[in-house]
Amino acid sequence: MAKTIFYGGKGGVGKTTSSTANSIHFAANGQKTLLISTDPAHSISDVLEMKIGKDITKVRDNLYGLEIDPEYEASLYINKIRQNMKTILSNVIIDEINTQLDAAMVSPGTHESALFDKMAEIIIEKFEEYDVMIFDTAPTGHTLRLLTLPGLLENWMASLIKKRKSIVGMNRMLSKKYDEKDPVLEILEKRQQRFGEIKKILLDGNALALRFVLNPEQLAIEETKKAIAQLEKFNLPVEALVINRILPEELDNPFWKKKKEQEKLYLEIIEKTFPNKRLIRIPLIDSDIRKNTIDSIAEYFQDA
Ligand SMILES: Nc1ncnc2c1ncn2[C@@H]1O[C@H](COP(=O)(O)OP(=O)(O)O)[C@@H](O)[C@H]1O
Ligand SMILES: [Mg+2]
Repeated sequence: MAKTIFYGGKGGVGKTTSSTANSIHFAANGQKTLLISTDPAHSISDVLEMKIGKDITKVRDNLYGLEIDPEYEASLYINKIRQNMKTILSNVIIDEINTQLDAAMVSPGTHESALFDKMAEIIIEKFEEYDVMIFDTAPTGHTLRLLTLPGLLENWMASLIKKRKSIVGMNRMLSKKYDEKDPVLEILEKRQQRFGEIKKILLDGNALALRFVLNPEQLAIEETKKAIAQLEKFNLPVEALVINRILPEELDNPFWKKKKEQEKLYLEIIEKTFPNKRLIRIPLIDSDIRKNTIDSIAEYFQDA
């Protein structure tokens, strides 16, 4: 049963760095780990300096990578709807709906639904195969908020299914076709089943860990506090915070000394503001995070 960790946070704070370093740490400890990026910018390929695509790719011993492209997933998703539709609707209506589906293809809501479906599919299908799954999320698209969906949608699906059943019941009485399975009902029931499964895996199994990455700066603290409160309202507790880019202790330049003093203050505020969260601290290093530096960052995830 895989432990599933999601890294969230604003753009540029260090989500890709943290999720990749954390994956390397688990893999080095013999845990079979899958690192999944949902950011269309796909920087896990850049950090690891290798091509990782929409199929699971081996990175090194025990470590596998996968990049989800929300746009590509959205087009698959829409095409699936088109296929399903053909079996239930007349050609006239299909033409009309197709035009609407073309428009939906570029809407952010579609990307989010498609992304959610893809994440659910991976978690459900790979949960037994991997020891750890780590999601590197995009700053936009509210990937973490998507996790609140199963709880909300399960009830909604149940009411849709009930309505559909009564419609199907009436149609059958009129047409006397008793034995045919209703395709709409089939789709709804499949989705409801998936929501139930994913909710069970994520919430009941204690397998889920949500983490936020932030830099020791004033604005970041307030924003992180708000984001955590939003998730916890849905019973999705944030387990740890990664404080990234901490300045070195020894600084002789007056400018950086002053910066370091400010930073100390913010680090204290972080400790006071989030007393129940585990804090993972990562120093600022003097180069970009790439293949040759990422292992040194992995060391900061010793017990995580
Ligand atoms: N601790 C660090 N020290 C030095 N550079 C860092 C550190 N963490 C991140 N970076 C650099 O900052 C940039 C943004 O980091 P990244 O992990 O891609 O953020 P995100 O995924 O949140 O957008 C990258 O160029 C990365 O190399
Ligand atoms: Mg990133």
